[in-house]
Amino acid sequence: MRVRDTIITKAQAVVPMERQIQGLHLWQRAKRLVVDDGQPHFTESPIPDVAGLDLTDIDVSDPFLWRQGAWESYFRRLRDESPVHYRADSPFGPFWSVTRYDDIVRVDKDFETFSAEPQIILGAPPEGLDIEMFIAMDPPRHDQQRAAVQGVVAPQNLEEMEGLIRSRVAEVLDELPVGEPVDWVDRVSIELTSRMLATLLDFPYDERRKLVEWTDLVAASASATGGSTDTDASYRAAAEAARSFSALWHDKAARLAAGETPGYDLITLMQLSEDTKDLIDRPMEFLGNIVLLVVGGNDTTRNSMTGGLLALNRFPEQFDRLRENPALVPKMVHEILRWQTPLAYMRRVATRDTVLNGQFIRKGDKVVMWYASANRDERTFENPDDFVIDRRNARHHLAFGIGTHRCMGSRLAEMQLRILWEELLTRFDDIEVVEEPTRVQSNFVRGYGSMSVVLTPKG
Ligand code: HEM
Repeated sequence: MRVRDTIITKAQAVVPMERQIQGLHLWQRAKRLVVDDGQPHFTESPIPDVAGLDLTDIDVSDPFLWRQGAWESYFRRLRDESPVHYRADSPFGPFWSVTRYDDIVRVDKDFETFSAEPQIILGAPPEGLDIEMFIAMDPPRHDQQRAAVQGVVAPQNLEEMEGLIRSRVAEVLDELPVGEPVDWVDRVSIELTSRMLATLLDFPYDERRKLVEWTDLVAASASATGGSTDTDASYRAAAEAARSFSALWHDKAARLAAGETPGYDLITLMQLSEDTKDLIDRPMEFLGNIVLLVVGGNDTTRNSMTGGLLALNRFPEQFDRLRENPALVPKMVHEILRWQTPLAYMRRVATRDTVLNGQFIRKGDKVVMWYASANRDERTFENPDDFVIDRRNARHHLAFGIGTHRCMGSRLAEMQLRILWEELLTRFDDIEVVEEPTRVQSNFVRGYGSMSVVLTPKG
């Protein structure tokens, strides 16, 4: 370890996390008075038809490509004409786009050539908010940290959680008004996701919406993913989250020390594991691991809950088939994940010169694996833009990635979606989307801001 790193680690151990973040925030604001805030600013304009563009002018990092729903034709063209595509300048710097299924599998599985460090997003978060997380670490560090926390989503734990999740889904659905417009995103997707996260963390249940607020703010800055979050609000959210999680850690440690039976939540698991029992002394890493689970399980699950319902409304004959045969729910869950692909990509950096599908990639180049495109690759999925609830190979989707970093929460996410649809089908004859949903501004999260629906109870 370098001397500078030792000093920083020691400083981290004595200065509370939220103070460190507040310090960085002040520094940022002071800098902003002298120079600008270093954040790109995006202004929306209509996305042109891709057929009229030169290949070199295609920039799939544009957050509005996603918001305006124009992404499918852009990626189809890249898959056909330039499957490993170089964009020389973008608001996030130069980067390669990998758009075909097979090429993405190759990149994702080869962590020695394609490193996940230091970030898995295209841009960079505001200074100081680039918290250390194992999703952005290579083996062996990645493996140690993942091993320490993955017990929280181990099959036995999930089995124990199933009943609880089902009862929470039932509570949420039974409170929904019927026969009048209701915002599905707020009342169902966000509500269920925040309840699940509070359970995983054993976080105060009444404050569960904070988990969603914080992660939305921390994850959606302009410099990171083309979002529209206010930078000051991001810093405030990070400081508040740090304070709250560190209090939760100390509270649990005190209860364990007093001889209380350990629970099976994330923080307790960290306290019981050799590799992470002193993680609180490495505060930014501690915060990173918690934030990773909260971010990982937040936008993703939430937007699959919305995307699935939207897909069934776009393909009503599939909704009819589902009503006739609810046993298809588990298969449909894979298709929802393929069709929605809640995270559009993961980014890597080449650690050496290499050749990918005929393109020469230099050491240090950014390489973006567009899962959203892989999941619509005609070479792997027949009529890929269609939503088919029992698609033969839907479970081969790449929405969870593949390789070392394959999603740790995949089974939990699948279980939640399965339970949601099982419970919906027993209660409602129809759930009609009555307005075009609004979409979030991001090139990373394929998300929805609101979606108005009307529910018809079973007759
Ligand atoms: C990693 C997607 C739900 C926790 C990932 C990755 C993707 C992803 C694409 C990176 C894969 C790669 O780089 O190869 C999703 C989707 C979800 C979901 C689409 C829901 C529909 C969850 C949930 C949790 C979670 C509920 C919380 C328990 C994680 C963690 C990682 C991860 C901790 C890092 C794994 C590693 O680096 O080894 N997820 N995720 N995810 N996800 Fe999820």
